Amino acid sequence: MSEKISRRGFMKGSTKAGLAFYLINKFSLRSNAQEIQRPIVITSGGRSGLEANEAAWEVLSRGGSALDAVEKGANVVELDPENTSVGYGGIPNEEGVVELDASIMCGKTRNAGSVGGLRNIKTPSSAARLVMERSDHIMLVGEGALKFAKAHGFKEEDLLTERARKIWLRWKENLSPNDDWFPPEDNKYEIERPQGTINVLAVDTYGNIAGITTTSGLGFKIPGRVGDSPIIGAGLYVDNEVGAAGATGRGEEVIKICGSYQVVENMRNGMTPQQACEDVCRRIIKWHNGKVNFSDKFVAVNKDGLTGCAQVRGRKGARGPSYTVFDKRGNETYYGVTIITY
Ligand code: GLY
Repeated sequence: MSEKISRRGFMKGSTKAGLAFYLINKFSLRSNAQEIQRPIVITSGGRSGLEANEAAWEVLSRGGSALDAVEKGANVVELDPENTSVGYGGIPNEEGVVELDASIMCGKTRNAGSVGGLRNIKTPSSAARLVMERSDHIMLVGEGALKFAKAHGFKEEDLLTERARKIWLRWKENLSPNDDWFPPEDNKYEIERPQGTINVLAVDTYGNIAGITTTSGLGFKIPGRVGDSPIIGAGLYVDNEVGAAGATGRGEEVIKICGSYQVVENMRNGMTPQQACEDVCRRIIKWHNGKVNFSDKFVAVNKDGLTGCAQVRGRKGARGPSYTVFDKRGNETYYGVTIITY
């Protein structure tokens, strides 16, 4: 099937309504706002994104810090057993063990913390915050990250829900007709590898900016695989002078291109958050000579509260990549731009 570059512009609500916005060159209402929008929180989207926004807004609307807001927002998603891509209930690695990655960054201090391959802790973003605030390091992984979290009073818990275990078992039983694991007769099919993640980015009343990226990573990964989410500059980057950006999708590609750092640098060099996200998607596509069979998505907010979102690849006819925004005008889902449709 031929792939074509498309520009699906900021479609809030129906495609028709979105097209109308596009044609009259009134891109996103959020992005077009002239006045400074502070405080504001944005996420990489979905039902979880709206819920994360609610929790973060609770903090921001009473004058709380962006750092506290993003942690509160991320925790809601991490603790939700129904969300199979983040925290408790996340899809496990190939051995059926949940391993979590998360990062946090403070735009004011430019300090950061992260954890990779963390087992048995439901809220890895809070563990990442402790790495940032209570250690002289930026990144802890595996056993060391777990020991550090336990030293700070985190409880070890089994993160594998029944739902996630069944998804893993179905994957394992359908892996190969030549191994010793058989699916039930009526349950033979291809399983896509889930790769969800959430970014929560906020600007508080005082103009301080913070962000979190948290995930259970690529479903059925090799134990020990760490994606982009806990790598500062890849899955997350924040700078008070400019804004914040976060990535979701195929982490290996985001790492190679230092994706979130590049989005922030693009904004520093004068691009809007929307242009900055699209530019990095296009770079990824260029590196693959226009042929990609994966997707990455970026969300960004600048220090004035303008937002943007773009993804590398998406289905033809589908709405663009969703992202959620909560500011004084309410909590809403918006749609960014897909660069390649298939
Ligand atoms: N972007 C999430 C991951 O690749 O782990």
